[in-house]
This record gives sequence, C-alpha cells and structure tokens, in this order.
Amino acid sequence: MTNTVIILAAGKGTRMNSRLPKVLQPLAGQSLLSHVLGTVRQLGQQVSLGTPIVVYGHGGKEVQASCAGQPLEWVEQAEQKGTGHAVQMVLPVLPLDGVSLILSGDVPLMGVGTLQRLMDAASSGMAMLSVRLENPTGYGRIVRDAAGQIQRIVEQKDASDAEKQISEINPGVYCVANALLHRLLPRLSNNNAQGEYYLTDIIGTAVAEGIVIGSASPDHEFEIEGVNDKAQLAQLERRWQRHQVDQLLKQGVTVIDPARLDIRGRVTVGKDVLLDVNVILEGECQLGDGVEIGAGSILRNVQLGAGTQVKPYTLMEDVRIGQNAEIGPFARLRPDTVLADETRIGNFVEVKKSTLGTGSKVNHLAYIGDAVIGSQVNVGAGTITCNYDGANKHQTTIEDQAFIGSNSSLVAPIHIGAGATVGAGSVVTKDVPERQLAIARGQQRNTANFTRPVKNK
Ligand code: UD1
Ligand code: CA
Repeated sequence: MTNTVIILAAGKGTRMNSRLPKVLQPLAGQSLLSHVLGTVRQLGQQVSLGTPIVVYGHGGKEVQASCAGQPLEWVEQAEQKGTGHAVQMVLPVLPLDGVSLILSGDVPLMGVGTLQRLMDAASSGMAMLSVRLENPTGYGRIVRDAAGQIQRIVEQKDASDAEKQISEINPGVYCVANALLHRLLPRLSNNNAQGEYYLTDIIGTAVAEGIVIGSASPDHEFEIEGVNDKAQLAQLERRWQRHQVDQLLKQGVTVIDPARLDIRGRVTVGKDVLLDVNVILEGECQLGDGVEIGAGSILRNVQLGAGTQVKPYTLMEDVRIGQNAEIGPFARLRPDTVLADETRIGNFVEVKKSTLGTGSKVNHLAYIGDAVIGSQVNVGAGTITCNYDGANKHQTTIEDQAFIGSNSSLVAPIHIGAGATVGAGSVVTKDVPERQLAIARGQQRNTANFTRPVKNK
C-alpha cells in the first residue's frame, strides 16, 4: 500500500521579517523546505510513499520554482485559515486508503528514523510525535488522561493556566489514516482563540470515537524544532552544526574548534582528518585519510586523496585531488580541476577546468585555465595561460617534464612538448617541440656609459 506525505508550507512567516517565504529561508546552505524534501526522499527508500503533496500559499511561485524538476504535487491554500484548513485542501486528491505523514515545511531537521517510528506507532489509525521540553511556551500541549492516554491537544493561546504547566508538547508531526482524515477534517470548527481550523482538533475527535492515539519521540530534540523567526533560524543552525561536528568527532576527526566549523552538505572522512578553524565544507566532500584543511578554507564538492594538505584560506569548487598533494595557502581551484598525486598548487594561483599530472607544480601567482598538464611539470611564478581570445576559450597542453619559466604567457591554443623549456618572460604563441628551448622576449641590450637623468633645479 502506498502512503502519502503532506507538507504544510502555506504560512507566511511574518515573524521572519523577510521578502523570502519562510520555507525558503536557508539552513546549512539549503532551504528549510529542501531539508524536509530530502528527508522524505530518504524515507521513501525505506517505506512506500506516493508523490509528496506540498500545500502552498504565500510566495507560491517562488516556492514552486525552488523545487523545479522534483516530482511534487502542489495544492494551493489561497487563504491561510489554519493547519486543519490546510489539510482540508488536500482531501480532493487524498487517497481513501493508506496513511498520511503530515509534516511542516518549517520544521526542517526531522530524522528518517523518527518518522519511521511514528509510522509504526500509527497502527490504531493515528499517531503523533511527542516530546517534553523544559520550556514548552508557544507549543500546543498534549493532554493525557489518568491512564496516560492522549486525550487532546490544546494550543498555547487556548490553554488554561493548569494546561500551560504541561511540559509535553505537540511538535506538529502526525501519521494519520487517510480514511480518518476524510472523515474527521470536514467536521473541524474554528471556534477558538485564533479563529482558525486547527489540525490538532482531530485528535480529540478521534479519541471521542474510541481511537487510541499512538505516540513516538524524536531521536534528537533539534528534530522537532520549528523555525518562526531569524533568532530561531540562527539557533537551529548552530545546533545542527554542532550535531554534525559531533558526528565527525565520533569518526575520529580532529576539529580544532567545534564552534568554528560549518558543514553545508555531506562530508565523508577517512582516518585522522584534521579541520582547522573557520573551515566551511559545502555540497559533497570526501576527505581521505590524513587530509588536513587549513584555517579559513572553503571547499565545495571536493574529493581529496589521502595525505593531501590544504593550507589556510584556500577556495575549491568541484575539484578532485589525488594523494599527498599540497594546495595553498590562498589558492583558488575552480570547477573541473583534477590534480594527480603529489601535485603542488601554491599561493595566489587560480586553476580552472584543468588537469595536472603526478608531481607537477604551480607554486606562485599563476593562472591555469583550460589546460592539460602532464606529470613532473614545473610552472614558474606568474605564468598565465591566455585561454580566452575575447570570444572563445582555447586549450593549452603541456607534456611531461616540461619547464615553464617565470612570467610566461602561453597563448592558447598551444602545445608544449615533453621535456621542453620555456625561457622566463616569454610570450609563447607557437608550439614548442619536445626537449627544445623556446625564448620569446625582447633581447637584452646593455648600454655602457649610461647616465641617469638628474632632477631639474
Ligand atoms: C502548530 C500546532 C501546535 C504545535 C506547533 C509545532 C496547530 C493548530 N498547532 O502551531 O500544536 O505545537 O505547530 O510547531 O496545528 N500552515 C499552513 N496553512 C495555514 C497555517 C499553517 O500551511 O493556514 C503551515 C505553516 O506554513 C507551517 C505549519 O503549517 O509550516 C504550522 O503552522 P504554524 O502557524 O507555524 O503553527 P503553530 O502555531 O506553530
Ligand atoms: Ca510553527
């Protein structure tokens, strides 16, 4: 049987005080909604789920555009009359059998394991998450009877003083039989403090029908944290970062300061990796055994082989590097850079869409773009591949063991043969055959008896 996922994302998020719809606010480099969708995707690998249904309203176009290309079913809630009203909008497309997992677009870090347990707890037809909080203010409270059975949910704004003392709260995540949603939702009223149709009211109604409400608790408290304003967004960002760092510490990574490492994506590590302060890892990063990343480096979608050292303040994006390479400090590796083992890229070097063979070095102040460089090549300080003629990009090829003297311009398309040498300061416009020396610069002329100009009186 296929189950349904409903994501409530129509709320305006007024308290964000932002032009961007709430569910598009960024947490760890991804929108809140894309965190939720990512979790749903993972869950879909464990249990059978239909196309997720997103209830949208505020900033609908932008929200939809942010999910372009993903298989989603969109249901509009033109006016936001409450969480119950939002799910009512889904009824026309909701199957009659199966269960629905109801999630909030503003609760981004729900775990797959927690959701699975919630689904397991719904054998009676209805289950909700539950957690006790030291400070339950703002949340709906779970009211239980003397036997400990869930009776109903009361919102903060409708709660009596005694009910406000309850520390067990409703995180707003439910698993409900679709048959029950079809039967109970049309009966909701908005006779409450906020004049809204509360989804939470279906719990009391179900109990009145004799249904026992199941419950499950989250693995981590941050999973149930909702984001309503920038302060909560910033706080959840820090909690999530700390959680991710803790996972790395357990795997044996040395993190010089856990408060100064940010992971905006996924990191896989070998043994004895070291991450210095203010490192940011984005996208998918794979760090081999013994990799060290220096302070202030920002790496996105990289694969670094064992023993590779990244010195401080290095930027990399879409880069693959072999073993025992040394990069930086202050290097910039742009997309489609592939560096073999034992390569060396030094300070103020930019590399784009280029490959370097084993042991090749570009140590200082150079630009290498659209180049294929063999092994054991030495590229001198200040060398530039002139890859762009103003209209098109052209390729530079440098074969094994070539030596490019400092401050040379290699005007592409160009081919430098194996073992060739380019004299310093050359502007090379013609191919250099293997093992030959190319010098392309003005000849030096020395003038004897030269007198320097003297200052006018
Ligand atoms: C809701 C619960 C509360 C729970 C809390 C947990 C209700 C009545 N209350 O309160 O018990 O403790 O979540 O975070 O359900 N939304 C819509 N359409 C609407 C209203 C809301 O799509 O008309 C969406 C919002 O975008 C949000 C989610 O539903 O993603 C929750 O709405 P919100 O207004 O934040 O509910 P809370 O007041 O936090
Ligand atoms: Ca909320």
